[in-house]
Amino acid sequence: MSDVILDVEGLETLLGGERRLLGAARPPVRAVAGVSLALRRGEILGVVGESGCGKTTLGRTILGIQRESAGTIRLDGRVVSGLPPREARRARHDVQYVHQDAAAALDPWWSVGRSLEEALLINGIGRRAEREARLGRMLAAVGLEPALGRRYPHELSGGQLRRVTLARVLVLAPRIVILDEPTSGLDLSVQATVLRLVRELLGELRLTCLFISHDLSVVRQMCDRVAIMYLGRIVELAATRQLFEAPVHPYTRVLLAAAPRLVAGQDLHAAPILGEPPSPTAVPSGCAFRTRCLHAVDVCATREPALEPAGAGRTVSCHRWREIPAAPVTAD
Ligand SMILES: Nc1ncnc2c1ncn2[C@@H]1O[C@H](COP(=O)(O)OP(=O)(O)O)[C@@H](O)[C@H]1O
Ligand SMILES: [Mg+2]
Repeated sequence: MSDVILDVEGLETLLGGERRLLGAARPPVRAVAGVSLALRRGEILGVVGESGCGKTTLGRTILGIQRESAGTIRLDGRVVSGLPPREARRARHDVQYVHQDAAAALDPWWSVGRSLEEALLINGIGRRAEREARLGRMLAAVGLEPALGRRYPHELSGGQLRRVTLARVLVLAPRIVILDEPTSGLDLSVQATVLRLVRELLGELRLTCLFISHDLSVVRQMCDRVAIMYLGRIVELAATRQLFEAPVHPYTRVLLAAAPRLVAGQDLHAAPILGEPPSPTAVPSGCAFRTRCLHAVDVCATREPALEPAGAGRTVSCHRWREIPAAPVTAD
């Protein structure tokens, strides 16, 4: 059995671009612009990048609720992309997604129990006794009292809401879960408990996880490997330790430098100011990062770098990674 459970190759997702009633069509945004990655059985793979870089769209496309415009997705070696939406979701029912906005993911008019039960009904788990048993088990697994099932979303704290959204997805017995910003909007103390719970559950249920976050410290703590995303592309992917101890891509370096506590021995004042990323409707030619890169040269403007192996277990897309000194980058 291959150790790869989910394989994504050259995935591209276009958003928007619909023709409006009056006026010209707006150009679509290439929110996912050629992503390749492989999820290994049982691992937690982090996807991290600034807001708007396409993390959520990548998750939704892998899930199959957002249609890919190019590329291939394989689940256990079987192609599950290029299908009409309903079939795509059916083929990928082993993949489930936990929404980044826990409150928005639940129907405000439904009790928590009803929301959870509905998830089972939709997925054809029809016997009442079976549903109740599963719900009870799952609420307990996420550390919630069964009585909480009678409450409504607005009666729950942020941490409880997170637990409910986790339960709602895990009750479907997926093999792969995509967690989208699972700690956004939570206090640090609640965040720590939720992360501990997520880790325990993923381990106990032997799940594979794509863990989306913009928070480097959370990713460092949770993930086995990390992919760094920039304007719809993966610029570097490596084992977590490798990535944090010796970042290679100039963007990874800048990101880590902007969060100086993460890099041992690094000068707190060395973090270069990043500014805003370019708009996804106006991506620079060649390397998408070149306009913010301290190391860009002519070739960076003319040729898009491919994601290529850069030492054991690491891939990087940068024309210049070999020439950039190994020390953490500092602003000139
Ligand atoms: N419906 C849409 N139409 C056009 N562009 C969109 C739409 N939804 C999101 N986008 C754009 O796609 C890009 C990726 O968004 P998203 O996947 O939500 O990023 P992230 O989750 O990393 O913050 C952003 O630039 C966003 O503005
Ligand atoms: Mg998002």
